[in-house]
Amino acid sequence: MSPEDRQKIPTRIEKLRADLHHHNHRYYVLDDPEVSDADYDRLFRELEDLEKRHPEFITPDSPTQRVGASPLDKFASIPHRIPMLSLDNCFSREEFEEFDERAKRLLSIGVELTYFAEPKFDGAAVELVYAGGRLAAGSTRGDGFTGEDVTQNLKTVRSIPPVLIPVREPEIKLLTRGKTGKELVALLETLPKNLKVPERLEVRGEVIINREDFARLNKERDEAGEPPFANPRNAAAGSLRQLDPKITAGRPLAFYAYGVGETEGWELKSQGEILAALFSFGFKINPHIARCRGAGEVLAYYENMARLRDELPYEIDGVVAKVDDFGLQRRLGEKTRSPRWAIAFKFAPRQATTRVLDIVASVGRTGTLTPVAFLEPVQVGGVEVSRASLHNQDEVDRKDIRIGDTVLIQRAGDVIPEVVEVDKNKRIGKEKKFSVPKECPVCGGPVTRIGEEVAYRCTNISCPAQIKERIFHFASKDGMDIEGLGDKLAAQLVDKKLVRDFSDLFILEEETLANLERMAEKSAQNLLAALEQSKSRGLERLLYGLGIRHVGEHLSRVLAGAFPDIKKLESASAEDLQKIREVGPEVAQSIVNFFANPDNLKTLERLRKAGVSFAPKSRPRSTELAGKTFVFTGGLQTLARDEAKRLVEERGGTASGSVSKNTDYVVAGEDPGSKLDKAKKLGLEILTEEEFKKLVGINS
Ligand code: IVH
Repeated sequence: MSPEDRQKIPTRIEKLRADLHHHNHRYYVLDDPEVSDADYDRLFRELEDLEKRHPEFITPDSPTQRVGASPLDKFASIPHRIPMLSLDNCFSREEFEEFDERAKRLLSIGVELTYFAEPKFDGAAVELVYAGGRLAAGSTRGDGFTGEDVTQNLKTVRSIPPVLIPVREPEIKLLTRGKTGKELVALLETLPKNLKVPERLEVRGEVIINREDFARLNKERDEAGEPPFANPRNAAAGSLRQLDPKITAGRPLAFYAYGVGETEGWELKSQGEILAALFSFGFKINPHIARCRGAGEVLAYYENMARLRDELPYEIDGVVAKVDDFGLQRRLGEKTRSPRWAIAFKFAPRQATTRVLDIVASVGRTGTLTPVAFLEPVQVGGVEVSRASLHNQDEVDRKDIRIGDTVLIQRAGDVIPEVVEVDKNKRIGKEKKFSVPKECPVCGGPVTRIGEEVAYRCTNISCPAQIKERIFHFASKDGMDIEGLGDKLAAQLVDKKLVRDFSDLFILEEETLANLERMAEKSAQNLLAALEQSKSRGLERLLYGLGIRHVGEHLSRVLAGAFPDIKKLESASAEDLQKIREVGPEVAQSIVNFFANPDNLKTLERLRKAGVSFAPKSRPRSTELAGKTFVFTGGLQTLARDEAKRLVEERGGTASGSVSKNTDYVVAGEDPGSKLDKAKKLGLEILTEEEFKKLVGINS
């Protein structure tokens, strides 16, 4: 390499780092990326590559070094030069007004105070120390005086800048569009020009996890067999306290700055200015901040944030009001644990204690029985709650929830209320255990649970709780294909008591139909014609339309092939059914349960009387291919794929979509692809289209 080229490398590295820093800021801080992920990755890889070839140029704050450190044995501690105080809480307008009056009294002023109001994040507080503009250390709040050294972990948080590069004038103009927030935009205008990054700067703020990311994280943990986090705050705090920074790096953490600790050589005069300055150095600042004149404006701000609360992507548990002016802050001073110049105005808690009056099984549209707790009505976060879903029997058993118990309930975001835990100390011995009933509380039909499923279900196809949904399914394209019978009409027919089970559909009269909403004479006639046609769809579609759990379109055809006489299917045992290749124990049990239900047999009888055909449409002409499975791959020349499948099914065979060791024949057309490779590997019999035709006995 020539000396000139060697010189170009550090320049290129610097340029790449500056660009990556910029794009990181756009993406993670402003939520407003300028380039595609692919372009970003390209720059990142180029830098990685250069650093790999020239390790002498690697610096700890290079964007490639976010996840560099190896696991620790334990955390060191870091003292906070200025204690990280907590905040006094208040819960009502009156309490906030008292706080405001006291502050004014202490300051002996008669005019309104100016506050800076911010959402109160529900995450984990941290302090970041920047020396010479570089992230030197980061710690948790700890006991307020000393925290844990989590520097390596904080370096992995994408919205924490490893170096502070003041955003340039023209860029600030650009930022004033979009998601920055009105107040911040106004504040940026008032900031001293060419504000320098102080030699030492302690930034304080909150590490949080967005609700959506939290849900995803817990889902992943569930799939990995790990216990879920109780809430986003625990998840954020737990993620920060990992000894292996690689684990933290995999967690979706974000950092919002809300204040500073010690600052050397910095002459800013208010909270608002601080936030604007931190924003201009590259930190994420909540866009919903506001300067408020007097207590009245803070109260209005609080009301507004309470309304916005559920729409925010992260959890907040109140708002924080801080006297804006640092001079006034200093005059008000601090108590041991909390300042006199700030207060947390908390939202009504979303948790409450109440009593379980009763537990009842409610039947859903698909027949699932869900235990629901009826509660002594109680206010939870401003909403009256009188019932909570207990999800399923396993959940009731796990939490040991009994009728009469005193329970802690919560409402989180838009989620329906749930029981968090039972206060077992409040038990008096008269509490009653609950079990899902053996009979459906709506229709009295038998309730079953199949295999490993957690849900108990009512299997009666005419159960009033399920009938609307079931009619809609019965009439669907792959079922009886009754054109014009959608969910709205199905609901009307049931609500008007015109239809109680499937068979009632076939005795509907034109006049009755024409009088329904959104129906006219013509549409009534059309529906009657569609109903008439549907009678001869055949056993396959009828079986599908019945909505037997686990019996889909394909299996309906298989069953109709194996049991062309439904009476045989009705009396088949689970063992008989499992002789069919596609039927496993769970499916077999579901079919047996269905036909064991006398209500279902009655409905079938009524369908027969109404003139519905139970004859298979594609009755196997023979059984010469019984038990044989075919897979078609590639383009066939003289046969359509559906036709080829029909030829197999008519002879009692099965056409499947994927090759396995259970496949008997693979029919390969043009460009057969990977299925053929697999078939060869498995040593299966491979047929050409011609050979297939010969096998099924048709001549070309
Ligand atoms: S100011 C002395 N601002 O609330 C000022 N704190 O109880 C103290 N918090 O540990 C901090 N959002 O983790 C401030 N916008 C905000 C905040 C906030 C959340 C947390 C913080 C602190 C706790 C105080």
